[in-house]
Amino acid sequence: MSWDRFKQHYLFIETLDFALDISRMDFADDYLEVMKPKIDQAIIAMEELEGGAIANPDENRMVGHYWLRDASLAPTPELKKEISDCESAIKAFAAKIHSGEIKGSDGKFEHLLCIGIGGSALGPEFVNQALGNPTNDPMTIHFFDNTDPNGMDKVLAQLKGKLGKTLAVVTSKSGGTPETRNGMVEAENAWTKAGLKFGPHAVAVTGLGSKLDKHAVAEGWLTRFPMWDWVGGRTSELAAVGLVPAALSGFDIDAMLKGAKEMDAVTRVKDFRQNPAALMALMWFYATDGVGKKDMVILPYKDRLELFSRYLQQLVMESLGKELDLDGNTVHQGIAVYGNKGSTDQHAYVQQLRDGVLNFFATFIEVHTDRAGESPFVEEKFTSGDFLQGLLLGTRDALYEKGRESITISVRDVSAHTIGMLIALYERAVGFYGSLVNVNAYHQPGVEAGKKAAASTLELRQQILDALSAKPGEAFTAEQLASELGLVSKTELIFKLLEHMAANQNRPLRKLIGDPFYESKYLMEQ
Ligand code: PA5
Repeated sequence: MSWDRFKQHYLFIETLDFALDISRMDFADDYLEVMKPKIDQAIIAMEELEGGAIANPDENRMVGHYWLRDASLAPTPELKKEISDCESAIKAFAAKIHSGEIKGSDGKFEHLLCIGIGGSALGPEFVNQALGNPTNDPMTIHFFDNTDPNGMDKVLAQLKGKLGKTLAVVTSKSGGTPETRNGMVEAENAWTKAGLKFGPHAVAVTGLGSKLDKHAVAEGWLTRFPMWDWVGGRTSELAAVGLVPAALSGFDIDAMLKGAKEMDAVTRVKDFRQNPAALMALMWFYATDGVGKKDMVILPYKDRLELFSRYLQQLVMESLGKELDLDGNTVHQGIAVYGNKGSTDQHAYVQQLRDGVLNFFATFIEVHTDRAGESPFVEEKFTSGDFLQGLLLGTRDALYEKGRESITISVRDVSAHTIGMLIALYERAVGFYGSLVNVNAYHQPGVEAGKKAAASTLELRQQILDALSAKPGEAFTAEQLASELGLVSKTELIFKLLEHMAANQNRPLRKLIGDPFYESKYLMEQ
């Protein structure tokens, strides 16, 4: 890698103290010029999207996450007002919680239980990991981000005796996602068991008129914050979904929004060579041949950014992983994303990155400031942070020597401002890439399909229970039960459901172990 190539392909944005280095991506000299018409078109499409076009045609929706950090861009006066009213309401609510003006049944709120999943959880989890300082923050945050009973028990154990000082934030744009609903019901049960009312400890973030919204009104919850249909779940960190927990945690939400707004300004630039999001999308296209041939490995060398790859996994894969393109052609698009943090990952999978199958490109994220204040020397003249940067640079070289390409992003620190910048950078890079490969990056039919499939297994579970309850004491193998129900094609599913029900204590369903395993029988106790 020559210094000349580095100078040519290192984009430094002084106002943001931000740099993007694409010099270690080995695209041909004419690649950027060849791609100019395509990326110019993507920039125009983005301009239309920001102007209020129906950029999510499958759901007939506008795509407005960029307005959240600059309400003046919203296409109507009503939307401008809704955005700024929501922001003011969040700040006012957080101030009242912090001052104790609004308190729980046992006093000032000290804990926050965020209940949500996917786009309604990953952003807050990432931001909390990045900005949280448990010893100073006004509230300690906890998450229910799944319908795993044991996972919820673990969280509730930490909150034992503290529910009267815990504020629950239930977040669901649709207001009907089963995992979140279950989390809410389990939380309600926990409060009731503790002899407390849930409503005075609860807040909803949801679409106006959704099931959750109605439930919150009916149960007298403290307040509700809106989720608009023009903000997608995975781009909602700077909507109420992310801002409510961030403000309650005491993070500087103005700085987050400012960072995003400033990154938006530089990623709106028409000259794509000066536009970091456009260059990133072009690198993704180059690396993957525009068909997802290689995975994107995200390697931030900073513990606080450990959840960034998880957050990006959703942002990138849910946005770009699509069966059809915008013209209805079958394309099976997408880019797989994984990663954790350096240098920890060097002692895990980086071995394969360097020497194994060449099916990835890496993105290193370098943070210049090691810590607030001085660092001790861990060797005569070196700090731990010197080692961390050394390991990043060394690994990047070691990969490049073996023909493994990488992008490097450099930021000054892990502050609220930087987090806003990074979120905005990737949101726009994903949008540009969606245009380059001609997919709708703003819908998620696969997620909806999963939700439907889960619902149908619940129906089948009910059929099994009904059939066994109708013949108490009579034992059936999965095969016998399937034929009894006239559902032979579903025998495997029936077997799985029986095994699960027999392992749990809610129902008097017993398993008589058979050999081989499929001779096992199941019965409902008399
Ligand atoms: O990004 C998305 O749209 C999804 O991941 C959703 O955020 C997720 O399914 C949760 O949906 P909801 O907020 O409606 O409960």
